[in-house]
Amino acid sequence: MNTLKHLAIIMDGNGRWAKERSLMRINGHEKGAEVVDDIAMYCAKNGIQTLSLYAFSTENWKRPKNEVDFLMKLLKKFIIKQREKLIKNDIKFDTIGDISVFDSDLLNEILNLKELTKEGASLNLVLALNYGGRDEIVRACKKLVLANDEINEENISKTIDSASYGDVDLLIRTGGEIRLSNFMLWEASYAELEFTDTFWPDFNSKELDIMVKKFEKKHRRFGGL
Ligand code: FPP
Repeated sequence: MNTLKHLAIIMDGNGRWAKERSLMRINGHEKGAEVVDDIAMYCAKNGIQTLSLYAFSTENWKRPKNEVDFLMKLLKKFIIKQREKLIKNDIKFDTIGDISVFDSDLLNEILNLKELTKEGASLNLVLALNYGGRDEIVRACKKLVLANDEINEENISKTIDSASYGDVDLLIRTGGEIRLSNFMLWEASYAELEFTDTFWPDFNSKELDIMVKKFEKKHRRFGGL
């Protein structure tokens, strides 16, 4: 049986979920943020070490200003709201992506939550923020060049943002699209992939559990036989 150590999710379909209900796109994001709770608790209870979530991509800045502003406010609200719960459940909060661009208020909340939860041992909850897989690889290569280190697979793996969390075992995308959209390109090289038509706000731990059970039974060959 495979052990699922690192689960990554592309949380897609918030906008379409809202449209189907004649709501605004931001209402979809709001509902989507609530789902994170259920999924993170499932992971913590089921021995999954790391949950990486695609919350804001390097491309998402192209969205209308009011949606970007709302997502930033939602993120701040999420971080403040989750503080006690993460501490109580021994969950470590971390981020991947270039967060230096965020406004100082949000940045401080992020750094504060990282500090407060750094000893968390039941789950690593990693939000990908201003994250792009290509950007992550390029930044890692630049660091290696600056340090005069060789550019090879081992060094890149050790230098990328998610270095502490290792390769992704299972990558899920909700919302019906069958693509990776620049998410964890390096880490997901050998990941099992699952796509569901369920919009993220309707996704839940029950559907996740079916995918996890399927993953556990898969024969993973990593290029061998
Ligand atoms: C994709 O749906 C979702 C995003 C770009 C943002 C993800 C954000 C959340 C799930 C909520 C916030 C999460 C946290 C942790 C605060 P979409 O807008 O592309 O949906 P669509 O494809 O239906 O338009």
